[in-house]
Amino acid sequence: MAHGNDRGLSAQWPYPQLVAHRCGGTLAPENTLAGFDACVRYGYRMVEFDAKLSADNELFLMHDDTLERTTNGHGSGVALGWPALSQLDAGAWRGAQFAGTRLPTLAEVAGRCARDGVAANIEIKPFTGREVITGMMVANGARELWQGQTPPLLSSFSFDALAAARDAAPSLPRGMLFEHVPADWLRIVRELDCVSLHASHLHLSEPLVAHIRAEGLRVLAYTVNDPARAQLLAQWGVDMICTDRLDLLTHDMLPAAPAIPS
Ligand code: G3P
Ligand code: MG
Repeated sequence: MAHGNDRGLSAQWPYPQLVAHRCGGTLAPENTLAGFDACVRYGYRMVEFDAKLSADNELFLMHDDTLERTTNGHGSGVALGWPALSQLDAGAWRGAQFAGTRLPTLAEVAGRCARDGVAANIEIKPFTGREVITGMMVANGARELWQGQTPPLLSSFSFDALAAARDAAPSLPRGMLFEHVPADWLRIVRELDCVSLHASHLHLSEPLVAHIRAEGLRVLAYTVNDPARAQLLAQWGVDMICTDRLDLLTHDMLPAAPAIPS
């Protein structure tokens, strides 16, 4: 039987099979509007990105808790407000042509999704210790910012963040993120009233995908960069494939996912 916070969503699934990881995969600096440009350029119609909350409560995109991998800053970003974060260069690390690229706000990305007709998987990626407030603020922000658009699919590795998102905006669809799918996955996704389960493709199998879908849930696999692997996962019934290689994976190479059991 289908479960989830919106049973109609499972029957009329609004999301495409391919999802651009961290906005533009490896074709642009991750979690930036330059990545979003790559997503659109390659004809992708859904984007995944990592959402954080600054110390002064601005919602913005970044993956790590620390700044040095993807910006010209140093140390933890947890104590920084938006005036400091918004000055960082989030593009030069990826190549001189991206120098001057800024960290985008969630509002900027919502505007691009509306303009370009791109659906969103917002991964709630809290600074450590900020799980509940970030889950709540992302869900509230997403509900406001995506009004009139396809509802963004909220996901997180953090149970507490996703529970806070559920309480703040129960109508937004949720997907629980795992690297390895734990033995008690069904209890967790039911408690969070999820519509989907997201997992590393390295730890998925055909029987596990079938079991998850038999419970009425959709499956997202990350991060799949090999076309043959993407085709196999789609044959198993994986509904969404999150990839860094927008240049290699195309919608026409994938078999349609089997119907979700009703
Ligand atoms: O949401 C799928 C994927 O983005 C999870 O891993 O570390 O790239 O955020 P990560
Ligand atoms: Mg992510």
